[in-house]
Amino acid sequence: MKKSETGCQQIIQEPQVRLLIDNDTGIDDALALAYLCACDHVRIKAITSTPGNVDVDQVVVNNRALLSLCGLPDFPVLIGAREPLEVPLVTTPETHGPQGVGYATLPTPETAVAHKEDAVNYWIEAARANPGELTVLLTAPLTNFALALRREPKLPWLLRKVVIMGGAFYYQGNTTPTAEWNTHVDPHAAKEVFAAYTTAAEQGLEEDKLPIICSLDTTERFEMQPEFLTRLAEEAGCTEPELVLATDPEGMLSTASNPLVRYLSDALRFYFEFHRHYDQGYIAHVHDFFAAGVAAGTLEYQTRLATVDVETESKLLFGTTVADYRGLWGKPANARIVSSNDPESGFAELLTRLGVLARKLDTNS
Ligand code: RIB
Ligand code: CA
Repeated sequence: MKKSETGCQQIIQEPQVRLLIDNDTGIDDALALAYLCACDHVRIKAITSTPGNVDVDQVVVNNRALLSLCGLPDFPVLIGAREPLEVPLVTTPETHGPQGVGYATLPTPETAVAHKEDAVNYWIEAARANPGELTVLLTAPLTNFALALRREPKLPWLLRKVVIMGGAFYYQGNTTPTAEWNTHVDPHAAKEVFAAYTTAAEQGLEEDKLPIICSLDTTERFEMQPEFLTRLAEEAGCTEPELVLATDPEGMLSTASNPLVRYLSDALRFYFEFHRHYDQGYIAHVHDFFAAGVAAGTLEYQTRLATVDVETESKLLFGTTVADYRGLWGKPANARIVSSNDPESGFAELLTRLGVLARKLDTNS
């Protein structure tokens, strides 16, 4: 997205991005997926569903329902692991709602189940068939990615770009005082992923193939205000103002005329209420949208090289990610951690793209 001479946001065609998404749809995963559906230069090749915010079968239903709402072809929605590598699955209905998308409801999609093929095998075959072509976006626990790296240790060389939402570096966690949710759900998988990239770096993997880590220290800068939904409704051409107010009784449902605005408003309202319950204000940290923009090449960011490891033994620090920026462990960098980003231009980008998609859906509905 670039500013034109008149200062308004205009959509400049970015280079095509061929994308594999692994998510645990969830409210911010849903926002990220809607955004990617609105990016004409992004070719989503498949969505692999991972258990996390909700169980994996519900993640599949959420993904398919949203794709159907966005009017997109029914590309593969697959399942790999049904639970973390070593610990029991813990979900978070209090954060994302019992169905994972807050108060939003959608008609059950015609195909409410995953494709038969295993997600991990699909990833490996797709990467082998398209060497250096595929971008991978992971906004869920890293279970499937760890399994794929076990079966194909050359994956770091075969993938064009890897973007991970997860971790927290010298920044308070959102699940324990030091641990971030995706990493805490499956810390053994995260540890294996970073270890695999350490090995690849020792074998000469180029730095621009190291995973880009969107961790809480920068994703929590993407703090959505309720007024975003008011502006989105305007962009979508809704006749009535869309007001989501902190003074509203909890659980109010949107009556927006546009189906995408209604869906996102009902989903995000739950998220605003959740953040308020945890004393963060009536706002929503849209972590996965930021990671999606990094993967799509539409959002600005800078990174710092680091060696990342994950705590899996200590009860106190279970799931905590640690970054060595100074080579103190004597190991090569295995990650590029996002060190800065631009929420203001990011939300302007989100508003413009979603507004165009919403209008398209309205004319089709
Ligand atoms: O910690 C934030 C992450 O955990 C996001 O991906 C959110 O969807 C949850 O999965
Ligand atoms: Ca997620």
